[in-house]
Amino acid sequence: MMKLNRLVAAVCVGVAVPVILGACAATSAATAPAAPVAPVAAVKGAEMPAKMVVSYRKDIAPMFEKYCAECHSAKAGAPTLKEYDLNKAHFDKEKLGPRNDTYETVVQLIAYPDAGAFMRRLDDGTSQYAGGKPGNMYKHLCEKGNDAECAANLKVLKAWLGEGAWNLNRFKARGNVPAITKEQLDKLVLAY
Ligand code: HEC
Repeated sequence: MMKLNRLVAAVCVGVAVPVILGACAATSAATAPAAPVAPVAAVKGAEMPAKMVVSYRKDIAPMFEKYCAECHSAKAGAPTLKEYDLNKAHFDKEKLGPRNDTYETVVQLIAYPDAGAFMRRLDDGTSQYAGGKPGNMYKHLCEKGNDAECAANLKVLKAWLGEGAWNLNRFKARGNVPAITKEQLDKLVLAY
């Protein structure tokens, strides 16, 4: 009888110790100051405002739905890039550009086959080879005349492409504009 009692007591202590230790650990974690971590993150963020986490689904699709879909979506009757290339005059008259309402249709205008078309049309005129003039689709990036919004949305597009990935070069050289390089293409991130 005594032996059994001792065994029960031992088991109880065995259970109680980890429970108490666990409770202590939980308490100390809850009361531990979070302060040492926060300032580091804040400084980093301030130094690197260009490092936004941008994705097609979260940021680009809604922007294009709002500002481009009336002329560039399947539901507006817009053509694919290849259909558009075959019959440009027709679609220009209809005021329809090639579709940019899916990830794949947008990437075709950034990387291949129409490398840089996206950047040439949406640039604000400050990039190399832009000739100091905004692309003719830049004004569609915002409510009419809201320059600050257009600029902010361009920043989102540039962040989405990837750091240093925004350039106006074509797949093949044309005029004074050199062909896009493998190094430039490597910078594309384009998160889905
Ligand atoms: C009012 C209609 C309209 C709106 C709105 C519009 N576009 Fe366009 N877009 C066109 C037309 C028409 C063309 C083809 C004629 C041309 O090249 O300018 C075109 C051409 C383009 C091209 C060049 C495609 C190629 O094959 O070279 C890109 C890129 C583009 N648009 C992007 C956009 C983006 C992104 C938006 C939204 C921010 C947008 N457009 C808003 C009508 C529009």
